Amino acid sequence: MSMILTIADLKDLARRRVPKMFFDYADSGGWTESTYRANEEDFQKIKFRQRVLVDMSNRSLESTMIGEKVAMPVALAPTGMTGMQHPDGEMLAAQAAEEFGVPFTLSTMSICSIEDVASVTKKPFWFQLYVLRDKDFVLNLIDRAKAAKCSALVLTLDLQILGQRHKDIRNGLSAPPRFTPKHIWQMATRPGWCIGMAGTQRRTFRNIVGHAKGVGDLTSLSSWTTEQFDPHLSWKDVAWIKERWGGKLILKGILDKEDALMAAKTGADAIIVSNHGGRQLDGAPSSIEVLEEIADAVGDTIEVHMDGGIRSGQDVLKALCLGAKGTYIGRPFLYGLGALGKDGVTKALEIIRKEMDITLALCGKRLVTDMGKDQLRR
Ligand SMILES: Cc1cc2nc3c(=O)[nH]c(=O)nc-3n(C[C@H](O)[C@H](O)[C@H](O)COP(=O)(O)O)c2cc1C
Repeated sequence: MSMILTIADLKDLARRRVPKMFFDYADSGGWTESTYRANEEDFQKIKFRQRVLVDMSNRSLESTMIGEKVAMPVALAPTGMTGMQHPDGEMLAAQAAEEFGVPFTLSTMSICSIEDVASVTKKPFWFQLYVLRDKDFVLNLIDRAKAAKCSALVLTLDLQILGQRHKDIRNGLSAPPRFTPKHIWQMATRPGWCIGMAGTQRRTFRNIVGHAKGVGDLTSLSSWTTEQFDPHLSWKDVAWIKERWGGKLILKGILDKEDALMAAKTGADAIIVSNHGGRQLDGAPSSIEVLEEIADAVGDTIEVHMDGGIRSGQDVLKALCLGAKGTYIGRPFLYGLGALGKDGVTKALEIIRKEMDITLALCGKRLVTDMGKDQLRR
């Protein structure tokens, strides 16, 4: 553990511990993966101003996201099938986030259910909603998130149809996973993962099975998910979702300033500048490339968050400098989880915290909330 110094170290370990089809599911983007790569690469083009002989004592990474106090402005992004990276993955990641003091966001397409996660956490977590054609099911999901006292609803806007990820097709990954000889072989070469999975009942989409009409088993779920994503979703739908939810609302998947301005008009509490981790529209710009123009366009009308390509605390600080009030990590926590379970998620957060703290000091700042455009070379 002491030689795990970077998110890349966690990724290497996860590759050795998680069956290939599930590791690849995390480490993949749409089509050529150019946007997936750009998300990471574009951070490298941004440079800090190094400052000296300023008081660097008493530093703090504390901030707020949608009014909630956070130990650092880094939330765990909603990710589907997280319970396949590690048994009970969503429950463990939520616990790690709670202990660390950062928000955890549970995906609609999670393995552990809203109720599972609520049963092992004390503080409210956030719930991510996909709007599906079965509106009764969607209304019920919103009500279940309310009953579990989730403190924010993250409405994902950029997955009305599914982008194509070649690795998933080549691996024969499906939702839910099939168990062909190839898959069984991939799992058999990861015995630790198999033993863990044998020890949990949570191996399917527990937000859905038993809750959506006609979905009582794995076979029917497969056809249900293919039919269910709703291509009709429009700005009008945000209003009824907001009303039914009645709490803090975050709109995820904004990559264009015109959409950002529309989002601000809905009265939502925040937007997430995001291209779904490069998994949807390949050829779209990286999130960090468009962050500043979006933040400038919306000004103070709505809080701006971002995700995509963050692999270090330095990347978080660059996003804050360019106008984000908060950030999210997807793959960094998934790699931690796949590598070492809950301890790996904590490790990912610790790595990012340390990198943020040292960078903050070397930029001549004591408070993370003071980081702005002035700390970048331009
Ligand atoms: C394996 C995986 C599954 C994901 N599933 C979802 C999901 O169910 N809902 C959602 O809104 N976003 C989903 N995302 C996108 C993430 O919320 C987030 O936007 C993205 O991971 C950020 O990029 P990063 O992984 O480079 O940090 C997923 C991302 C990954 C990597």
